[in-house]
Amino acid sequence: MLNRNPRQRVFLCDIWYSKIAMEEELINIKNTALSFILEAQDRKSLEETKLQFLGRSGKLTLALKQLPKLPIEKRAAVGELANEIKRTIEEALAEKLSQVTSDSTTKRKESIDRTVPTVEPRIGHIHPISQVLSQTIEIFKSLGFQVADGPEIESDHYNFEVLNIPKYHPSRDTQQTLFLDSTGTSYSPGEMLLRTQTSNMQGRIMEKTKPPFRVLVPGKVFRYEQVDASHGFEFWQVEGFMVDKNVSMSHLFGTLDYFFKQFFGQSTKVKFVCHNFPFVEPGVEAYISCVVCRGKGCSFCKRTGWVEILGAGMIHPNVLKAVGINPNEWSGFAFGTGLSRMATLKFEMDDLRLLTTPDLRILEQF
Ligand code: DAH
Repeated sequence: MLNRNPRQRVFLCDIWYSKIAMEEELINIKNTALSFILEAQDRKSLEETKLQFLGRSGKLTLALKQLPKLPIEKRAAVGELANEIKRTIEEALAEKLSQVTSDSTTKRKESIDRTVPTVEPRIGHIHPISQVLSQTIEIFKSLGFQVADGPEIESDHYNFEVLNIPKYHPSRDTQQTLFLDSTGTSYSPGEMLLRTQTSNMQGRIMEKTKPPFRVLVPGKVFRYEQVDASHGFEFWQVEGFMVDKNVSMSHLFGTLDYFFKQFFGQSTKVKFVCHNFPFVEPGVEAYISCVVCRGKGCSFCKRTGWVEILGAGMIHPNVLKAVGINPNEWSGFAFGTGLSRMATLKFEMDDLRLLTTPDLRILEQF
């Protein structure tokens, strides 16, 4: 019901007008402030906007000072609106401030002078053993050899027996063997060991594969050795063997001569000297001309001009028989060499232990 009292009426209209006007003004203030914040590009203009709206004589602050002029029952609602607008402006200011600060850091990063010298990153490279391994595999693959892998924990059977090395054979003494403790297992003492040679794979592969075949087996071997410059208790070997019709010593010599020339260079000379290995007959040791002095004689080759590199021979008929291959029908050759030794020769290292050091200052030289 309208109050007929003219003073009162005017007063009521005023209040009505003030409330509407104030709410509108507050919303206007909010919208203007938000659009300023949106356009601001840097911290400075944000600080100015803050001052302009929230400062002591800022637009919102001044508008809030009008609050007490409103009738008591309206003040709470308008006050709440004003506070909400204040919060909105403050939040928008904070958000934009963090945005412009991170933008300017990115810009600063982008403007870094790229010509200023920096610390060079350390780039790794392939370990010498792996380099030698992949080169060896490449060469033999080109000759039709397939690569095989096998267990490092091996039985006496494959490591020795199949290879024509029965128990108490004196040649066992040349391969100081690390036997595994069989206590509490179904194996008898001395039955399981760490393989001393990659030749262990001859029996495993030949008993399962029908000839003809050409196989290359790289891998780690273990021996109970006193570690020094030329001996390690674990080192890499590569075994190779082929079985076919009418394979002879000349195939063996030709294959190894080709391999060494590819690996160490065409000027490499190769010589073979008779040697006994129980699993080959006849057996040989191969020597190559010294990689350091090229055969003239130096301390590396103990003044002989030659370095011993590998054992080889024609697979013994007993080995072929043990794996079920008829030695009257098939023949083959086998060879075994130390990959670690090949690496030291290739890179002219005077200490085998360099190959197992984790020291990058040494390894990055090769
Ligand atoms: N397995 C022998 C060793 O570790 C090396 C060897 C010699 C392998 C003669 C052969 C071979 O295949 O025919 O000393």
